[in-house]
Amino acid sequence: MGILHDPELEQLLAALHARSDAQIPVIAGYTAQQATPDEMKDFRRDKLVALDRDKAEFCYQLCRASDARRIVEIGTSYGVSTLYLAAAVRDNIRTNGGAGTVIGTEYEPEKAAAARAHFAQAGLSQLIDLREGDLRETLKQIDGPVDFVLVDIWIAMARPALERVAQHLRPGAIVVCDNTEQHREAYADYFAFLNDPANRFRTMTLPFGGGFELSVRCPA
Ligand SMILES: C[S@@+](CC[C@H](N)C(=O)[O-])C[C@H]1O[C@@H](n2cnc3c(N)ncnc32)[C@H](O)[C@@H]1O
Repeated sequence: MGILHDPELEQLLAALHARSDAQIPVIAGYTAQQATPDEMKDFRRDKLVALDRDKAEFCYQLCRASDARRIVEIGTSYGVSTLYLAAAVRDNIRTNGGAGTVIGTEYEPEKAAAARAHFAQAGLSQLIDLREGDLRETLKQIDGPVDFVLVDIWIAMARPALERVAQHLRPGAIVVCDNTEQHREAYADYFAFLNDPANRFRTMTLPFGGGFELSVRCPA
């Protein structure tokens, strides 16, 4: 039995992780080439680029431990990490009652359609509000305090995304971000935002592969 205690969901996730892992060498080979931004966008269209399983399971645990009810996922792709986050919300509701939702973000229509099919297959659709389009538009409206944010997006978009969500974070909210050690320099503006005292974060880089940033919103 895996950490989610849901064999059918874990079977679906195992297949998606395998598909994503198989694409890693192809992606590594391609990014070594000189591609224009448009060529890169085309190439990435059918790539899952899913969050690593250990990081995704860690997110599930964090969301369970904090009884997270409003979660924002910056970068949904085919919905792998979304499934972990929605499973946490489902299990929080089962344990403590109430309601909850995961707001997802994806601007590739084909990926969004595939993600929706996975959500339906897992029986989690009703817990996921997948917002299609550029997140700089789709995240303009967020109702209520946010408990947890996963930032798993093309790096240039990490800071603009956090800027949109930051005003909605409750004190004690958790923000995690992928590969912050591996791409430290590229994340410079994201770290500048985290380290600005006005934004009230405390942050540390956890030793997952590539680094995984764990930031906590402090009280005012
Ligand atoms: C690293 S992948 C997300 C993987 C996902 N978290 C998972 O575990 O399966 C990042 C995704 O963000 C999407 N994306 C990139 N820029 C975006 C933007 N400005 N607005 C919305 N989605 C965007 C990409 O199409 C890509 O599918």
